[in-house]
Amino acid sequence: MRRSKDYLAAAVALVTLAGALPEAAQSADLAAARTKAQALCENCHGFNGVATLMGAANLSGQQKEYLREQLRAFRTGRRQNDQMNVIAKTLSDADIENLSEWYASFKVTVEMPG
Ligand code: HEC
Repeated sequence: MRRSKDYLAAAVALVTLAGALPEAAQSADLAAARTKAQALCENCHGFNGVATLMGAANLSGQQKEYLREQLRAFRTGRRQNDQMNVIAKTLSDADIENLSEWYASFKVTVEMPG
């Protein structure tokens, strides 16, 4: 039924940010991540991790393990994307760890339709 598909799409679209950003970075790692994210990620993935570039993913609230895995895959080329392959090649293991923790620490709430 078409309508239920529409609801599903709306549920996916209706991810809203509650507490937008984590409180002031509490460790050196998050502080480093914030600086890196501002310099390298925000143009496409947004200041609050909600993508501003068409085709880029929302990162806020995503699982740390997932983010780390994707960034490693982009770095080796196992996952292909022209933009991300170039960016991920500049990231060290520590950068990937910090950035994964940074975006995973954003609080996200989801509103279901109806
Ligand atoms: C020039 C734009 C651009 C910049 C800058 C950028 N990204 Fe991306 N990113 C993308 C696009 C486009 C995709 C979707 C790739 C695809 O379709 O496979 C993506 C995908 C990702 C994914 C996978 C998300 C998922 O749901 O699978 C992660 C993680 C990610 N980016 C992290 C980062 C981080 C961390 C930075 C900064 C170090 C960054 N990106 C900088 C454009 C960008």
